[in-house]
Amino acid sequence: MTTTHKTFLGYVLISSLVVNAFEPITTTVVAGASGAAAIAAGRKIYNYFFESCDSKWIAFNSTGLEVDLYQKLFGQHVVSSVVLKAITGFKKTENPKKPLVLSLHGWTGTGKNYVSQLIAENVYKKGMASSFIHQFVATAHFPHQSQIENYKSQLQHWIKGNVTNCPQSMFIFDEMDKMHPGLIDSIKPYLDYYEKLDGVSYRQAIFIFLSNSGGEDITQVALDFWREGKNREEIKLKDLETALSLSVFNNKQGGFWHASLIDKNLVDFFIPFLPLEYKHLVQCGMAEMAAKGLEPNYALADQVARDMIYFPKNENIFSVKGCKTISSKLDLYRDHA
Ligand SMILES: Nc1ncnc2c1ncn2[C@@H]1O[C@H](COP(=O)(O)OP(=O)(O)OP(=O)(O)O)[C@@H](O)[C@H]1O
Ligand SMILES: *[C@@H]1O[C@H](CO)[C@@H](O)[C@H](O)[C@H]1NC(C)=O
Ligand SMILES: *[C@@H]1O[C@H](CO)[C@@H](O)[C@H](O)[C@H]1NC(C)=O
Ligand SMILES: [Mg+2]
Repeated sequence: MTTTHKTFLGYVLISSLVVNAFEPITTTVVAGASGAAAIAAGRKIYNYFFESCDSKWIAFNSTGLEVDLYQKLFGQHVVSSVVLKAITGFKKTENPKKPLVLSLHGWTGTGKNYVSQLIAENVYKKGMASSFIHQFVATAHFPHQSQIENYKSQLQHWIKGNVTNCPQSMFIFDEMDKMHPGLIDSIKPYLDYYEKLDGVSYRQAIFIFLSNSGGEDITQVALDFWREGKNREEIKLKDLETALSLSVFNNKQGGFWHASLIDKNLVDFFIPFLPLEYKHLVQCGMAEMAAKGLEPNYALADQVARDMIYFPKNENIFSVKGCKTISSKLDLYRDHA
């Protein structure tokens, strides 16, 4: 800010001196014009370094998202295709009728936060570090039942304030299954088809809900396919939707929060994450090494993956922790190598 101001003042002074020296009569007019140019230049410099709510900092890269979803995300063919369609469709629409609302479901460590990150990286130049992304974790941000009324007004203020600042804001709600139903009710208006709410339009915002609800039923579908000797890649969204709806709609505990969102069709896409297998853990291990700038070491990735715990007992197909802890295990194994 200060350097920008200094440059800006310097620019005005110098330009008016120069102008004075050559053509005294038109000084004021020209100095005024160069002043405007300096302001524009100042803005440009500011905009170059500081994230602002415009196309320099928020620009959707559909190729980038496609490449990431198909090359960096392992074992989630349904997720890859649905997420790509959802985001691309939304970003292509000039005047969306409502904000985009995605609900990501599945077993732990299967890539829900990771997919949010991939979306962020292909929509915002600063990725997850963007000041237009707001992440809420139920147990961390809204831990006390007794504070629920405070949380409600706080959350509504935040959403309204942030969308007013930047319509293309993104809100991620983690541990949605642990959120108080009242709190979910309080954000419902923002997800709806309103043109404007108190003068603010929420139609360009993206809301992403993350939860483990439905994870067990999704896993059951994957297990049935495996037991029938069918290919994992043959699993279709349709096969999982039934499982999702049964658990999500009928579960009185973690899942019933969905009921009111579903009734009003506020969630645009339910996205089921499959449990991960040994071979995906090896892929995660190799990717992790590359991310850490290490030489690829297949034997090490294989060892780390083999030492993870799998279920069901005896069949040992799916990783209990998904790809979670692969990164820290790699460090541990390397230190002891
Ligand atoms: N399908 C996947 N493809 C590639 N990497 C993955 C995948 N799943 C998980 N990972 C890796 O494991 C890490 C942890 O996964 P992530 O945090 O996305 O899990 P999650 O589904 O959000 O789990 P939880 O339900 O416990 O929050 C990610 O940062 C990523 O490095
Ligand atoms: C979009 O992503 C692709 C693939 O990752 C990349 O090659 C390209 O440079 C990106 N485009 C922009 C404008 O960032
Ligand atoms: C935007 O959201 C954050 C929480 O992520 C909050 O701290 C901040 O006050 C909000 N901004 C406005 C203008 O409401
Ligand atoms: Mg998570």
